Amino acid sequence: MRERAAGKTIGMVPTMGALHEGHLSLIRRAHEENDVVFCSIFVNPVQFNNAEDLEKYPRTLEADVQLIGNFADYVFAPSVEEIFPVAPTEVYDFGSVANVMEGAARPGHFNGVGVIVRRLLEWVRPHKAYFGEKDYQQIAVIREMCLQCRILSEIVPCPIIREPNGLAMSSRNRRLSEHEFETAANIHRILEASKECKNAFEIKQFVESEIAKIPEFQLDYFELADAETLQTTDDLNNPHGVMGFITVYVGPVRLIDNVRY
Ligand code: PAJ
Repeated sequence: MRERAAGKTIGMVPTMGALHEGHLSLIRRAHEENDVVFCSIFVNPVQFNNAEDLEKYPRTLEADVQLIGNFADYVFAPSVEEIFPVAPTEVYDFGSVANVMEGAARPGHFNGVGVIVRRLLEWVRPHKAYFGEKDYQQIAVIREMCLQCRILSEIVPCPIIREPNGLAMSSRNRRLSEHEFETAANIHRILEASKECKNAFEIKQFVESEIAKIPEFQLDYFELADAETLQTTDDLNNPHGVMGFITVYVGPVRLIDNVRY
């Protein structure tokens, strides 16, 4: 990039489009902290382990470009053929952070994330790359990928942006009916309420039973994990901090969220 040679700092925000305030918070922050911002929009087929999810994933490129406005200097929205003229064959081992929770529930998902994020970071070579804590485990996997691939970009975690009703913003929320959208707000409400519980056992009982009370919900998993290693823990005094990670199906739509205890 010309800008790098000119000594400018480059910030990058990788996305899959269907942008909302969550994405925009990353792009605005990148704009504040860097001279040049590069935003990518690519629905990465190799990170989907469910054909219907890939097919139904919302694609709204024109609206996305409008929303980005002047906050990014470059918007890169390649076709699948441009990125993958041949199917990628890389197989990574991102270790223990990638084998639990989303890694266990969605085989191949983090490998696909690693494939695309590595390519993007190696092409753009940003000083900083911005990722949302809604996908908390993804950040840990990307950090591990950067270590393994000797990518020097600083990975900047950004807080979860929520709807007024508390639901974590997600491109997949567009697939919810109005009723499901309101019901889905209970995920965050339940996680927040679980902070009142006294120990790990109570937290798990509380979250699982509250989720089970809502007929529209089907719990995929709820785990308490070390905030750094992402390994299961029952010790709320764990020095790295403890987080709750939840995945719930609302109808066919799979939603994730997390909470820090
Ligand atoms: P996508 O789901 O489009 O998300 C792009 C970035 O926006 C991710 O870093 C994600 O964590 C962040 N984000 C999404 N919703 C958010 C919210 N409510 N608050 C804060 N940040 C939020 O994550 C991906 O795409 C892909 O896996 C990608 C990294 C682009 C690789 O294909």
